[in-house]
Amino acid sequence: MNDIYKRILDVQGIICEFGVLWGNNLALFESLRGIYEPYNYMRKIVGFDTFEGFPHVNEKDGKAEIVAKGSYSVTKEYENYLGEILNYHERQSPISHIKKYDLIKGDATKTIKRYLDENPETIISFAYFDFDLYEPTKICLEAILPHLSKGAIIAFDELLDHAFPGETLAFDEVLGINKYRIHRDSHNSQPSYIIYE
Ligand SMILES: C[S@@+](CC[C@H](N)C(=O)[O-])C[C@H]1O[C@@H](n2cnc3c(N)ncnc32)[C@H](O)[C@@H]1O
Repeated sequence: MNDIYKRILDVQGIICEFGVLWGNNLALFESLRGIYEPYNYMRKIVGFDTFEGFPHVNEKDGKAEIVAKGSYSVTKEYENYLGEILNYHERQSPISHIKKYDLIKGDATKTIKRYLDENPETIISFAYFDFDLYEPTKICLEAILPHLSKGAIIAFDELLDHAFPGETLAFDEVLGINKYRIHRDSHNSQPSYIIYE
């Protein structure tokens, strides 16, 4: 994440995480913003999640036991507690009077359109896909494409993951496996990313 974050420092745009769970990445992004660009109040961090686990799965998502409605649910009203954590992180950096994160609760196949309709000025510099699933990945990828700056990073947690084939299928259908160099970090087997050009 540190290496990816450094790559977007000179790219205008917000950060979106698709699939938040307990919010460890959102808190990490806030810390990285505080370290590398504490005065960049444009670098909003937006997380999309039901906070109730997978709302539905698709036949393209395979047959692993974890691929089921309700998997990865969190505790009731966890998003409120996560908000407190993110507020605390913001208070540790300058310009803390400007709220620079958003938690968008609900099925992202629907909330992404609403978010972009309500925020048509959105430019995205870094999108982190961690839904694990075909349908929300495909719909959100398609929705954000017109909002991506060239040089933006689109990262995925489950590309090539046999337990969650849907994420790779969505990536292939929307962007094309052989159209991009798919980067990875030599120390971490999971996240991979493309630079959108
Ligand atoms: C593997 S977890 C995310 C992990 C998190 N990024 C982390 O690093 O800890 C997958 C998340 O995607 C969310 N999710 C899956 N499908 C969704 C959908 N259609 N709309 C909103 N959230 C969804 C689940 O609720 C779950 O929290």
